[in-house]
Amino acid sequence: MTIAWDNRFNIGHSTIDAEHKGLLIIINSIELALKHPNDKETLLYSINLLYEMAMDHFRYEEALLAKYTYQDMEQNSDGHKNLVIELHQAIDEIRTMIKKTAINTDDRLRLREYVSSLANGWLLHLIQEDLKMKDFIVGKY
Ligand SMILES: [Fe+2]
Repeated sequence: MTIAWDNRFNIGHSTIDAEHKGLLIIINSIELALKHPNDKETLLYSINLLYEMAMDHFRYEEALLAKYTYQDMEQNSDGHKNLVIELHQAIDEIRTMIKKTAINTDDRLRLREYVSSLANGWLLHLIQEDLKMKDFIVGKY
């Protein structure tokens, strides 16, 4: 299921908000790519892109929070670490599947579970952690 951007997800920092929107777009595009699981190149391309974008975003956000000594900095970066672990699992699964000649129904279901758990994990982090920095981060670049 694709997730629509909601303006309540905005934390009021243009770079961070733009990156969050970008991550949501790429997660949604992975969900769409899963409808054609035998188009393995698209799947692999999307998941690799998500990984690069997520790493860049986490680095940027953590550097910014460190620069201004955000009080919940550690909690935020622990959340990022968990998301990176989930991302690695999804990437490994997709790479393993890509080596197979055809993706069967079980593979497809497992892939969907990985991607929807990634999407949920990311959304939960955004709502529970990132939104807490709303007042703190405004105007800080
Ligand atoms: Fe974030």
